[in-house]
Amino acid sequence: MNGFARPDGDRSVFGAVHLGYVVVQSNQLLDWRRFGAEAIGLHVDELDRDMLRFRLDDHACRFLIRRGPAEDAVALGWQVDDHETFDRIVARVADRGVPIIEGSPEEADLRGVQRLWRFAGPKGIAQEIFTTPVTTPEPLRMRSSGWVTGEAGLGHVAVVSREPEAMRDYYRTVFDSRLTDYIDENISGLRMKIRFLRVNERHHSIAIANIRGVKIDPLRTRVQHINVQSATLDDMLASFQRVTKLGFRMRWSVGQHSNDRELSYYCVTPSGFELEVGWNPIVIGPELESTWEPTTYQGISIWGHTTVGETVLDKFAQFRQAFASARTPEITVPRLTGGLSR
Ligand SMILES: [Fe+2]
Repeated sequence: MNGFARPDGDRSVFGAVHLGYVVVQSNQLLDWRRFGAEAIGLHVDELDRDMLRFRLDDHACRFLIRRGPAEDAVALGWQVDDHETFDRIVARVADRGVPIIEGSPEEADLRGVQRLWRFAGPKGIAQEIFTTPVTTPEPLRMRSSGWVTGEAGLGHVAVVSREPEAMRDYYRTVFDSRLTDYIDENISGLRMKIRFLRVNERHHSIAIANIRGVKIDPLRTRVQHINVQSATLDDMLASFQRVTKLGFRMRWSVGQHSNDRELSYYCVTPSGFELEVGWNPIVIGPELESTWEPTTYQGISIWGHTTVGETVLDKFAQFRQAFASARTPEITVPRLTGGLSR
């Protein structure tokens, strides 16, 4: 349950949806194991030679890494607090004529959830919803002291989009997401606008970046980064050191964000998208929520977050990808953008 008051008749699902897990498809399973367990400090369970799971808390699964060629996050799993809210979300999707299908018992089992359903999401990232996570009494064996999840969910997901308004509308239609704030920033010479959306007390569960004035996407991967939140500053800094020491690529050094004030660093996962490990972002609890007004920040960081090790080849690959992206439209789900939600 959540602490956000919902008067009778308010059909909003805001506050009752939490990022539960991420499904990644990769052929770099050995690297992922080493990266997740040894560098980041997650609990790892090896299911078989084609599947790994990482835990951050008592949920049996927070990351499912499955063998496959995508080298990307392919699905996001959202935990929904109760069956009534779940039914409401299913109805929103189905009533607009978007196929929504029940996951098989095997799929639910792999994700460690009950009542799994799946429907199409922006950029081809499948959206999955579930009610109850399978928890395990098995103690966590990991290098970190802990991770912050709970009401705020697993963390957040950031994407670059050529259709940022459509994506914002999608999450408003499906989950009653609210706009937390905007950041305007220049990154690698490009003028970016970033929209931060929340669905619960976490400052944002989704961040959508676009390049202003031109519809290009410089990234190969559908997600730009996934964020997880360390329990302590020491944990965050120790993982930073392990990432570097074990030879994984750092992308942005430690710094502090302007809007949610989170201290964090960004490193590159074995699949090529980034993982942000953060600490202590502001929490938008019921009291702050009641008076929150979106603002626009200039610049993504108050200090730090300087780029590390970006090569000329990286830049070249990004430009090549950007030009390629201009030829094919981005996947949106038009029936779930715009219109009144029920
Ligand atoms: Fe982030």
